[in-house]
Amino acid sequence: MKGRSLVSINDLTKEEIIALLDLAEEFALNPRRPVLENLVVATLFFEPSTRTRLSFESAVNQLGGRVIGFSEASSSSVSKGESLKDTVLTVSNYADLIVMRHPLEGTARYASEVAPVPIVNAGDGANQHPTQTMLDLFSIRKTQGTLDGLTVCMVGDLKYGRTVHSLLMAMSHFRTRFVFIAPPELRLPAEYKLFLDQKGLPYEEHTSLADHVNDVDILYMTRVQRERFSDPVEYERVKNVYVLHESMLHGCKPGMRVLHPLPRVNEISTDVDPSPKAYYFQQARNGVYARMAIMASILGRA
Ligand code: CP
Repeated sequence: MKGRSLVSINDLTKEEIIALLDLAEEFALNPRRPVLENLVVATLFFEPSTRTRLSFESAVNQLGGRVIGFSEASSSSVSKGESLKDTVLTVSNYADLIVMRHPLEGTARYASEVAPVPIVNAGDGANQHPTQTMLDLFSIRKTQGTLDGLTVCMVGDLKYGRTVHSLLMAMSHFRTRFVFIAPPELRLPAEYKLFLDQKGLPYEEHTSLADHVNDVDILYMTRVQRERFSDPVEYERVKNVYVLHESMLHGCKPGMRVLHPLPRVNEISTDVDPSPKAYYFQQARNGVYARMAIMASILGRA
């Protein structure tokens, strides 16, 4: 991966994904080593973030590198009308790698085409979030002992949820059976179902949560993405459509784990948090190790 951008999870082969997960395991065992010494990473966040930006920055700091950047467009010269291209070209003078989040689909790909340094997509609109996918895969492999032959149930906003779109593409390498649970307004877009059809992977679509959690290995809850709705009335109608309570987990497989890319709003009740099946905060921690592996590989320090 040396010198390459990571824009879509499809930029990685199955073998590269597994190698990154193995490297992330090594970082999890021993995260404090100076492999990014003398390197600078820029984090350009045009959209809010807690986990992605701070786990990238924590990863760089723990590995001995330096971080520059901004956490909102209003504190950059974009607010004066500077173009994305000019911003990326300028920041390329100051950093060895750019991590970028932007509300518009396709911006990370565009940035990767104009920038002389690698771009890592930290989320572009409803499109892709490949580094989240790497930490999701890390979490699934860690909790299940394998990525192969699992049943993964994705719940909530499957239309706008970029973590869902990236994860299902990555899991398609591993003979996954998918169960999709969403209201009609937030169903998985046709292009992703076509993708699974072409791969010959089985999937089911349902609207009720309670009836479908007992035979799955991973329950991947998602937030309804308020920021993607053009009509606030429609958001209000679907925002609390699924709420997972601890009582709904009693019939689940013993090894089943609840994942959520976070932030959550109401979709997982806090009574789930003490359950051994709740894994979402450890999942967020795993983001540091996955991002260490990604940056070390791209920067040729793996
Ligand atoms: N999972 C995720 O992308 O969280 P943030 O929006 O807080 O970065």
